Amino acid sequence: MNKDSRIFIAGHRGLVGSAIHHELERLGYTRILTRPRAELDLLDTDAVGNFFAEEKPEYVFMAAAKVGGILANNTYPTDFIRDNLILQTNIIDASYRNDVKRLLFLGSSCIYPKLAPQPMPESCLLTGPLEPTNRPYALAKIAGIELCWSYNRQHGTRYLAAMPTNLYGPGDNYDLSNSHVLPALIRKTADAIRTGAAAVTVWGSGIPRRELLYSDDLAQACIFLMNLDDERYSTLLNENEPPLINIGTGEDVTIRELAETVARVLGFKGKLEFDATKPDGTPRKLMDVSRLHALGWHHTTGLEEGIRRTWDQVKEQVKDRLPAS
Ligand SMILES: NC(=O)c1ccc[n+]([C@@H]2O[C@H](COP(=O)([O-])OP(=O)(O)OC[C@H]3O[C@@H](n4cnc5c(N)ncnc54)[C@H](OP(=O)(O)O)[C@@H]3O)[C@@H](O)[C@H]2O)c1
Repeated sequence: MNKDSRIFIAGHRGLVGSAIHHELERLGYTRILTRPRAELDLLDTDAVGNFFAEEKPEYVFMAAAKVGGILANNTYPTDFIRDNLILQTNIIDASYRNDVKRLLFLGSSCIYPKLAPQPMPESCLLTGPLEPTNRPYALAKIAGIELCWSYNRQHGTRYLAAMPTNLYGPGDNYDLSNSHVLPALIRKTADAIRTGAAAVTVWGSGIPRRELLYSDDLAQACIFLMNLDDERYSTLLNENEPPLINIGTGEDVTIRELAETVARVLGFKGKLEFDATKPDGTPRKLMDVSRLHALGWHHTTGLEEGIRRTWDQVKEQVKDRLPAS
């Protein structure tokens, strides 16, 4: 990408999209295209086609998606498969019709089988049954990868699918009812400090291991991939396998270590209690990032540093949402 290339970020207000947006601005890119949902509903095929025809983006970061937790996925499975199939098809097809040079399609590690080998290599795609709770979402994302691959093979496009591990950062959702493990721990710990509680209760045994990537690091990885020279980029676009690359740290921690790190960063001096009656989920979920490392990208933000930066930016917002003491 040149500094004056036209770059469209679909979903620029989300956790991933906003991180890519900030990083592109920080790096001095001057023609970043964004549209809030009220101005461009990505489910509207004609509107997406017109937007691409008028703005002619050269590069597309596809960070828009219908995303949610287990409860939302279970309650609204139709929305998760339908919306994602429609909006990704709209964007990928409009990109082809308007000669987009490169497109980065974002998915997630839930595309891999429930019992995938750990760490999970890209080659384990479609080698076993999926986790049932988010199967409609995962299948839509797998269809998105297949779309990228099909356009590449039939039309010579250069679309790449990137699968990030669990992300965290300031743009995350801090509502306790529907948040991922790290924002939930931050909320609970902040709550305990404010109310003077002696302990924070963590769901499950604390033993499962999770990999976490800071959202700014993900943004840097996405821009790194988009800017790869043609020779290295071409190694990811192969006739015989999907154009797929994992993005992660390649390192994981136990939930206990995660809770301890949050307590340290926020300054909570009380106890951590583990409620083993609550489900643990998968024992381990770790990406194999050797493909990304071989290209020369490594994450730079350590977990404690990332949590500290996140807390610095969200503490007012999180405190505002705490119940009055
Ligand atoms: N968060 C993670 O831990 C994680 C991990 C791995 C992969 N990913 C992947 O990264 C991608 C983005 O996730 P995220 O966490 O950034 O999600 P997010 O915070 O929910 O952001 C999604 C964005 O998409 C936009 N969007 C959805 N439907 C739209 C529509 N019909 N028209 C216009 N805009 C629409 C949303 O707009 P509004 O702001 O208007 O709602 C929002 O800005 C997903 O593919 C996800 O699988 C996320």
